[in-house]
Amino acid sequence: MKEKLVQLFYQLFQNQPIVAFAPGRINLIGEHTDYQEGFVFPAAVAQGIYVAIAKNDLNHCRLYSFDFEEEFTFPLDSIFPKKGHWANYVMGMLSQFKQAGISLQSFDMVIGGTIPVGAGLSSSAALSIGIGTAISSLFNYQVSKNSLVRYAQKSEHLFAGVNCGIMDPYASTFGAKGKALLLDCRSNSHEEIQVDLGNYSLILVNSKVKHSLADTAYNKRREACEDSVRLLQAHFPNIKTLRDLNTTDLGMIETILPAQFFPKAKHIITENHRVHLAAKALQEQDLIEFGQLLNQSHQSLSEDYEVSCAELDELAATAQSMDFVLGSRMMGGGFGGCTLNLVHREGLEEFKKVIQENYESTFFIIPEFIEVTLSEGASLLNS
Ligand code: GLA
Repeated sequence: MKEKLVQLFYQLFQNQPIVAFAPGRINLIGEHTDYQEGFVFPAAVAQGIYVAIAKNDLNHCRLYSFDFEEEFTFPLDSIFPKKGHWANYVMGMLSQFKQAGISLQSFDMVIGGTIPVGAGLSSSAALSIGIGTAISSLFNYQVSKNSLVRYAQKSEHLFAGVNCGIMDPYASTFGAKGKALLLDCRSNSHEEIQVDLGNYSLILVNSKVKHSLADTAYNKRREACEDSVRLLQAHFPNIKTLRDLNTTDLGMIETILPAQFFPKAKHIITENHRVHLAAKALQEQDLIEFGQLLNQSHQSLSEDYEVSCAELDELAATAQSMDFVLGSRMMGGGFGGCTLNLVHREGLEEFKKVIQENYESTFFIIPEFIEVTLSEGASLLNS
């Protein structure tokens, strides 16, 4: 992809660019907890976004998307969101640099990726981080990795309209080879945990659906959590977010929250607990326990948090029924995208066959299988 982009860049702009790469991410466990300052357990993967960039003297930026085969040009002094457009990710990051007091300069950029779109591998965070890394490297802006992560999150809020948490840009930035990041979304700091799965592999199954309510439902879930915190603060005056509550508080919480809020709060509280248990299980190489936690996470996301869908439930249930699968759950925001599966290597072919037959006969969709290796975070690539 890098060579392709460099070649294309030369054809379009007759110039030699530098190229940044930012990876997509998986999340082992800890779903929908990041925006309640909770714990998540993501890792960067090998698939990602490549951003080729060089300066120009035009005072406007010229962009080209390899995947959309489309150009976009905008003047530096007029940066506004353009509903649903991929260029928002560039303009969104630029507006964050500008707000940080950096005086912007114009550039040409070509963007291309190897992340399957809509699969829930967080191509949008990779895009933002790739763009941020490319721009700050080109102009030598002294921006810390943590700031880039925050800019990417804010850009997504303001230019894409999704009130996402910190997990995706964080994982894309700080990913480490062979490791997952036990990330505390209150202190925004992480511990790297070695992931050694022995004879097992992580494999994603892409449901190939993304239900249209995904973004609105996401924002609604977030609001439900915030409303619950306000109600709970009357009884637990010291809490700031649901992260401050424990599974031992659940009995009390159930008596306080209205019936529609309780299961949502319960998911966040139990999921935070599961993240710690999962990190411990991995450290002790207890893959059976780790797999069971994945299954419990799916159940909680589906029944309590209600962010799954028929397709994901079917994929997880089929996987969970197989002897050589230790765990399976929906991954990411929900309402489509992938399931994450922990499968014995010797059962991989059988796994693919059974999942595909079953899914195709139920939903008339051929699922996609995506193998993942845990990889390094974003960087500038050597020329
Ligand atoms: C999306 C968001 C993340 C996180 C997950 C759910 O990927 O971008 O911040 O909330 O959903 O865990």
